[in-house]
Amino acid sequence: MVARRCLVTGAGRGIGAAVARRLAAQGHAVALTARSAGELDAVAAGLPGPALVVPADLTDPIAADAVVGAVERAWGGPVEVLVLNAGAGTSAPLARTTDEDWARMLDLNLTAPFRLLRRALPGMVEGGWGRVVAVASTAAKRGDPYVAAYTASKHGLLGLVRSAAAEVAGSGVTVNAVCPGYVDTPMTAATVATISTATGRTPEQARETLARRQPIGRLVDPDEVADAVLLCVGSAAITGQGINVDGGTVQS
Ligand SMILES: NC(=O)c1ccc[n+]([C@@H]2O[C@H](COP(=O)([O-])OP(=O)(O)OC[C@H]3O[C@@H](n4cnc5c(N)ncnc54)[C@H](OP(=O)(O)O)[C@@H]3O)[C@@H](O)[C@H]2O)c1
Repeated sequence: MVARRCLVTGAGRGIGAAVARRLAAQGHAVALTARSAGELDAVAAGLPGPALVVPADLTDPIAADAVVGAVERAWGGPVEVLVLNAGAGTSAPLARTTDEDWARMLDLNLTAPFRLLRRALPGMVEGGWGRVVAVASTAAKRGDPYVAAYTASKHGLLGLVRSAAAEVAGSGVTVNAVCPGYVDTPMTAATVATISTATGRTPEQARETLARRQPIGRLVDPDEVADAVLLCVGSAAITGQGINVDGGTVQS
């Protein structure tokens, strides 16, 4: 297998860290970005091959150019595998969703991936090979209550993926999304804490509530999401897709 230059956003923990480990285990060079340098360093230290830590707040308009440029300079060529994973959630009834919440969701979950894709895609097309995988959500495909801003951002992300895939089809570059349900990560731990506080249930009961919302009756493991990302990286024929990794929640 050819070793590729990879960039994983949100690689300090959760799904991004799992993806970084799997890419490195396949022999690829992996650059990691997020805001917390300490978390990135810890993940990088455990990788078997070349790793590069590039801390950045991806909501900063200059971050995409700075991060992709840093990888290009360090490794002497374009980013070939771009995993757009950094993201966050928020929850509120629509009528109490503030402008700040709305802007925060769109800035991080949609505009930041757009800027990174815009910056990295030309190098992939010029090189005749590239893989882009965005970590969207079941919220890219269905609407649940109290998550309007998050859902709008993830629907937008899937739209970005589909349009980009169509635009570069035939160039050797594929663009896909994976759409997880509830995954066992720090983000879900925060959701569990919120439910627990709001309902008076114990954290174990709150976690069980989320697990039971998925037909398989458990949370998805981060490595299971990484499996789907690696499937997209390994295939030249899968493009423009949103692959559900949600224990059967969304059947489309
Ligand atoms: N967990 C789930 O159940 C679930 C379900 C569906 C989809 N997803 C999606 O999967 C992705 C990863 O989720 P996760 O559960 O692994 O979350 P997580 O454990 O909270 O990790 C999120 C990562 O994104 C980074 N990040 C957050 N804000 C950032 C910013 N402004 N700039 C740069 N990096 C930033 C975080 O690092 P810093 O905080 O250090 O910046 C962290 O490395 C997200 O896009 C999420 O929407 C998760």
